[in-house]
Amino acid sequence: MTEAAQFIRRALGDFQPRFGLVLGSGLGGLAADLEDATGFAFSELPGFPQSRVSGHDGRLIAGTLSGVPVILLSGRVHYYEAGDAAAMRVPLETLATLGVESVILTNAAGSLRNDMPPGSVMLITDHINYSGMNPLIGEPSDRRFVGMSHAYSETLSIGLRYAASDLDIPLAHGVYMWFSGPSFETPAEIRMARILGADAVGMSTVPEVILARFFGLEVAALSVITNFGAGMANGELGHDETKEMAPVGGRKLAAILKHMIGEG
Ligand code: HPA
Repeated sequence: MTEAAQFIRRALGDFQPRFGLVLGSGLGGLAADLEDATGFAFSELPGFPQSRVSGHDGRLIAGTLSGVPVILLSGRVHYYEAGDAAAMRVPLETLATLGVESVILTNAAGSLRNDMPPGSVMLITDHINYSGMNPLIGEPSDRRFVGMSHAYSETLSIGLRYAASDLDIPLAHGVYMWFSGPSFETPAEIRMARILGADAVGMSTVPEVILARFFGLEVAALSVITNFGAGMANGELGHDETKEMAPVGGRKLAAILKHMIGEG
């Protein structure tokens, strides 16, 4: 058990979380919907990383969502902050040791498809690890050879699709390609990503999917589209646009998640 898990156990007693939710840039709003919430700053939790990205506030919040016990991680730490692909290892291990079985990862992403404009929500069905980095580099045991053929849970994905359709919220689906960031892609890289089969690009999530599978967690992931990829629309990309646009798709994403968790 991680030290952080022991700390949380002591604070929360027999609270038994079913889902872990990782909230991406500008998507922290869901925290306000938690009932009976108890929050911890990442800085209070042994081994937890400290994020320095604005729009990410670094809190673990335990509570119930649609009556179901969950833990939210608001404010992930990214590879590009310190070059550590395993930055989210302790938080994910902590979720697993607290008994979470499924994690739902969320992020803000750039769209590579004209029919998936900013404000859309995309279910990630698979990914391309374009960064070449891996959070399991240096892991000594044979457990490091994690199979990735079914990284994204069919069962959770079906639940999310049903929830979106019940709510009449369009839910796109596609392949997410991980670029290290923090600079945005060039138009040439975006054209390449399209040719290689990606539907969206972003700077997170993939290392967490790998870690979550390593810790035996079921995974689903959703992207909120905040912009078209570089060169697909006029204007320059920046983090302000991500923070400004994330809440638009974020409201749809929150509704889908709440519905899915309540039904599950
Ligand atoms: N590229 C990479 N990461 C992102 C983007 C993008 O266009 N939008 C939001 N996060």
